[in-house]
Amino acid sequence: MTRTRSILITGTDTGVGKTIICRHLAVYLQSRGLNVITQKWVQTGCAESDDIREHNLTLPVFEAQMPNLKELRCPYSLPYAASPHLAAKSHGVEIKAARIEEALITLERHFDVVLVEGSGGALVPLNEEMLMADMAARLKMPVLIVAGNRLGAINHTLLTVEALAGRSIRVGGLIFNRIANLGDETILSDNISVISQFSNVPVLGEMPFVTGPEEAQVRFAPIGAAFYRLWREEHQ
Ligand SMILES: Nc1ncnc2c1ncn2[C@@H]1O[C@H](COP(=O)(O)OP(=O)(O)OP(=O)(O)O)[C@@H](O)[C@H]1O
Ligand SMILES: [Mg+2]
Repeated sequence: MTRTRSILITGTDTGVGKTIICRHLAVYLQSRGLNVITQKWVQTGCAESDDIREHNLTLPVFEAQMPNLKELRCPYSLPYAASPHLAAKSHGVEIKAARIEEALITLERHFDVVLVEGSGGALVPLNEEMLMADMAARLKMPVLIVAGNRLGAINHTLLTVEALAGRSIRVGGLIFNRIANLGDETILSDNISVISQFSNVPVLGEMPFVTGPEEAQVRFAPIGAAFYRLWREEHQ
């Protein structure tokens, strides 16, 4: 049975827009009346999660509401800006799947939706034994893929879909994200149709390149609505 209260937001790479999508999806779902929280299992590059701080800009969360909420949302924060397995090793920390699982289960008990922002992409190592996708498989989490829309996206996205499908992970949707202001429109729109054709995964929309959070919120609304429709269908 796939989990029903949480979803992992992975990406085709680091820096493709997982944080911005997670943040705006969270606030969109909250506007539809759902009690939403975000989580980042392993944050690297800072002592306190920058990504959670960014989610909180549009999703006001009162840490005092629940004991240990900060730790539950980000069980591992590691200053070394590297892949989780390497950052953990360099700080002498062991990333434990059971600790991540417990934190997720606790959040699921208190919120309608837990949006988990992944670290890097699907095949990034969490520790010596597990890749990010292995953790998703262990937890039976459905996954949303943020595809950075640029030259190369077809290969990166289809590889990501295959890696997840090969672990019997349900890919709930694809969101394309324009991470640069300029690009060859022919290539970028072809990326979407070719990936849609070969992946058999619902495309929820494309986030345009935006200049600020207000614009992002407005431009994200149709994507949020597409996600919400699927969510409702599955939670009737
Ligand atoms: N659609 C967009 N329009 C404008 N800027 C964007 C867009 N998407 C992402 N960016 C910018 O690109 C940068 C990387 O995005 P973001 O931090 O969301 O990526 P990420 O996948 O979460 O990265 P990480 O793997 O480090 O968590 C950020 O500065 C973000 O503001
Ligand atoms: Mg991020």
